[in-house]
Amino acid sequence: MIIFPKINELPVELRGLGHRRQDRYLCNGEFKQWMGPFQEVRSPVCISRAGGVEQLLLGSYPLMSGEAALECLEAAVMAYNHGCGVWPTMSVEERIACVQDFAALMVKQRDEVVRLLMLEIGKSAEDSAAEFDRTVKYIKDTIDALKELDRISSRFVIESGIIAQIRRAPLGVALCMGPFNYPLNETFTTLIPALIMGNTVVFKPAKFGVLLLEPLLEPFQKAFPAGVVNTIYGEGREVVSPIMSSGKIDCLAFIGSSRVADSLKHQHPAPHRLRCVLGLGAKNPAIVLPDADLEVAVRECVLGAFSFNGQRCTAIKIIFVHRSVANRFVEDFCHSVENLKLGMPWEVGVKITPLPEPGKCEEMQAYVRDAERHGARVVNQGGGVWDKTMFSPAVLYPVNDCMRIYHEEQFGPVTAIAPFDEVSEPIDYMIKSQFGQQAAVFGRNPEKIAKFIDPIVNQVCRVNINSQCQRGPDTFPFTGRKDSAEGTLSVSDALRVFSIRTLVAARDAETNKALINDIVRNRRSKFLSNDFIL
Ligand code: G3H
Repeated sequence: MIIFPKINELPVELRGLGHRRQDRYLCNGEFKQWMGPFQEVRSPVCISRAGGVEQLLLGSYPLMSGEAALECLEAAVMAYNHGCGVWPTMSVEERIACVQDFAALMVKQRDEVVRLLMLEIGKSAEDSAAEFDRTVKYIKDTIDALKELDRISSRFVIESGIIAQIRRAPLGVALCMGPFNYPLNETFTTLIPALIMGNTVVFKPAKFGVLLLEPLLEPFQKAFPAGVVNTIYGEGREVVSPIMSSGKIDCLAFIGSSRVADSLKHQHPAPHRLRCVLGLGAKNPAIVLPDADLEVAVRECVLGAFSFNGQRCTAIKIIFVHRSVANRFVEDFCHSVENLKLGMPWEVGVKITPLPEPGKCEEMQAYVRDAERHGARVVNQGGGVWDKTMFSPAVLYPVNDCMRIYHEEQFGPVTAIAPFDEVSEPIDYMIKSQFGQQAAVFGRNPEKIAKFIDPIVNQVCRVNINSQCQRGPDTFPFTGRKDSAEGTLSVSDALRVFSIRTLVAARDAETNKALINDIVRNRRSKFLSNDFIL
């Protein structure tokens, strides 16, 4: 099992991060000093000291009160000013310029954000850097997508005697809440489109992955007008509930569990007025058909099940293998899992790292115990051994429907393999599942793959052939059925999610034409305009 490092074994640049007391929050363009209680932040990385092993202390962040959170909400409401504020009435070109300024300032913080990502949520150096770079690319792609959208909308339409210009207008005040597993990327895939479309934002980081956003507060303050971006921290019940029950949120972007999402929606006094974009739970199955290339299936299923310790909503969380190839698959799969390097996030080639959620190892162990009670066992060497925050990946086989792991989303380094005889069994599993995000199918016979695709495209929203499940590329739609999602995210879809189609129309009469021409030629309006962004 793993030996946790001593403090002097930490890379120098990580030791240098020191104890970070974040005692401010961004409200109405100003940094407000927080004088109340704080949440201590400990890394999932444990440190061996003479007295024992303990999680590295990283710093603290404000446990804000409901009052302070409402102050941030008011700042966003004022900045939106019923759609008459500076930000929602700014031209698209001007808003793009602000986002570009932000991206330029953000890039300067890369090293620090990446280091904090590693320490705060235990993501490997390679994956942390990839998360940062993917986010910057997402911002650039969003700008390009908006330019394209704006170009299309800059022309007039004449239909059935009506002249119109159809554009997209903001919704109002958005509350953006991201998840801990992609605290930067997934948060920004809603925050940036919400902003660029002219909404003002209250933004709450996930429970883990708060400090890593601190280096970006100044860029937010510098790049956007006052009140456009406001940050809140603390317990959801304390800071989010009053904001939702105020009825002043027009759009909720939340990535997390469906239980929390439902409760947030219900707190809004006028739920019909609330637009939601939600990324929720998933239990993506992989299905290995008898003729599958097992080398490919094993490689993709290991990646799918154990990337970032299985803490991805898109992770493969159960693997159905045809009984005729099950023994060989299980053997090769276990061999591959045994070769995954366990270690600290900064180690080269590390794949399995410490887990940030308190009690997570116990939770994983409970899945293992429950499955063992119902006839499965851990089939890989050393699987399921754990210490403090480190859990060695466990492969459970053979899994059946009496076990919790068969139905529940484990969101961690335990995976389940279930043998099947008839293809109808995994299809039936998907039909009965409460989730409906993605599936992966492995096989070589076009006829059989096609027969499989047709029923399951109506169960999930992405079918991956001989490839693991994943969100990317970010230009592809990311969504789910049932309890897995509400709304669709992608670079271009997100622009639509955070805006509403709005048009200015007039009967095709000479007087109206002259009026519109005058407005456009003299650039009297920002909406009614045929300015073309290059
Ligand atoms: O946690 C869910 C993420 O959206 C997964 O994204 O498939 O790129 O890892 P990914």
